[in-house]
Amino acid sequence: MKEFIASNANETVEIGYQLGLLLKPGDTILLEGNLSGGKTTFTKGIGKALNIKRIINSPTFTILKEYQGKYPLYHMDLYRLDENSHDYDLENYINGDGIAVIEWPFQAPMLLPDEYLLISFSILENGSRKITLEAKGNHYEELLGELK
Ligand SMILES: Nc1ncnc2c1ncn2[C@@H]1O[C@H](COP(=O)(O)OP(=O)(O)OP(=O)(O)O)[C@@H](O)[C@H]1O
Ligand SMILES: [Mg+2]
Repeated sequence: MKEFIASNANETVEIGYQLGLLLKPGDTILLEGNLSGGKTTFTKGIGKALNIKRIINSPTFTILKEYQGKYPLYHMDLYRLDENSHDYDLENYINGDGIAVIEWPFQAPMLLPDEYLLISFSILENGSRKITLEAKGNHYEELLGELK
């Protein structure tokens, strides 16, 4: 487990960037925690590391957005997903040819792979964000070990 404090949005982006540099196709990153915790902001940092030029913003109303960079980035937000989740074929984007970054992942536990990196965001009293990274599985333990 690793923990960071980000005292502004740029610092949240920077931590996402450092992680993004280590990611490879097939990786799954779950982002959970407070509403407005910084999940989408963190994803912008991952996108920057993947050399994605398009602006990454909240996919809330679309469930999935796909970006092309060094590798494909599949950015999902399951906040509004319900029992009809199978309408979306989201499984195809997880452990696929790109990197899957999933906000509100536990809205659809049946979609999630056995191994992933779980990143939790919480808002501190002074407005800073606490960002906690936990690995599930050896591959993600190694990945986390490389993160400075
Ligand atoms: N470390 C930080 N300190 C202060 N503000 C931050 C920090 N990181 C991000 N923010 C700001 O918090 C707001 C919400 O960020 P963001 O949209 O990334 O959250 P989210 O977790 O994706 O929200 P949602 O739950 O709606 O998906 C934005 O205005 C963003 O700039
Ligand atoms: Mg968001």
